[in-house]
Amino acid sequence: TDPKTVSAEPVLVEFDNGIAFVTLNRPEKRNAMNPALNIRMMDVLDELEADERCGVLVIRGAGQSWSAGMDLKEYFRENDGKGRAAVLKSRRQSGGWWNRLMYFEKPTIAMVNGWCFGGAFTPLVACDLAIAADEATFGLSEINWGILPGGNVTRAVAEVMGHRDALYYIMTGETFGGQKAREMGLVNESVPLADLETRVRSLCATLLEKNPTVLKAAKDTFKRVRHMPWEQADDYIYAKLEQMLLLDKSNGRAEGLKQFLDDKTYRPGLGAYKR
Ligand code: ACO
Repeated sequence: TDPKTVSAEPVLVEFDNGIAFVTLNRPEKRNAMNPALNIRMMDVLDELEADERCGVLVIRGAGQSWSAGMDLKEYFRENDGKGRAAVLKSRRQSGGWWNRLMYFEKPTIAMVNGWCFGGAFTPLVACDLAIAADEATFGLSEINWGILPGGNVTRAVAEVMGHRDALYYIMTGETFGGQKAREMGLVNESVPLADLETRVRSLCATLLEKNPTVLKAAKDTFKRVRHMPWEQADDYIYAKLEQMLLLDKSNGRAEGLKQFLDDKTYRPGLGAYKR
């Protein structure tokens, strides 16, 4: 086995120059999220949080799919048969890693290479950034098989999509491609599948140049303040900023000012200071 691969199925983890590629790895089931995958993802996130080889986390799918949503057999039908307690436990297991992802220590990117349905929208939106392939196919297919989008999918969709678009796709269950996903704000960009990995790697390179303590504070602050009233937000932002300065042992702010004002080695308007 590849020495860079530390985890076995149903999730693979590979490291490459500061990037941790996490691959949802049930291609024969279109990477549908079953309990085993959800349990494993929780551990993977725990492992990567403290792993210095992970500067940016990228979630991708094996084969032709990102994720076909929840596993309709193992997550729904089989749990139904085990009773209410099993259903609730299974919900906690899936929601656990999606919630962790939302405020993960490192920047997170969803690299949407193919099918993306239903429950997959929650981890998609929980990732800080998302780059899709034009060829990817998205759909809120819940309506097609008789439920509304649970697992916080409805909330995730409301977070990034407009009112009309969200209701349209929630109610019709129609599919849409990567370019449409970008147009609606569900992903940052959509590129041809052949260029997807290159684009994601270049985005990772940009993020890896930045101060990681500041990145974590900046993304969390954005995600939290957008639901706060103006004055509370203003205070919270300064509290986070001052916390960030205390946490940043590298004293990046002073270094950034020095390299611009004294050394004149870079321009903050055009790129990051050298760490
Ligand atoms: N849950 C369980 N099994 C699945 C899922 C799923 N979400 N998606 C695919 N599979 C399984 C199929 O049952 C099939 O299994 P089998 O080989 O044992 O028969 C295998 O994966 C391949 O699936 P196909 O349908 O043959 O693959 P195809 O490439 O033709 O189609 C597609 C792919 C469009 C993704 C199709 O599988 C599909 O519609 N899947 C369901 C998508 C969906 O609606 N997910 C639920 C969203 S709602 C929610 O998450 C709560």
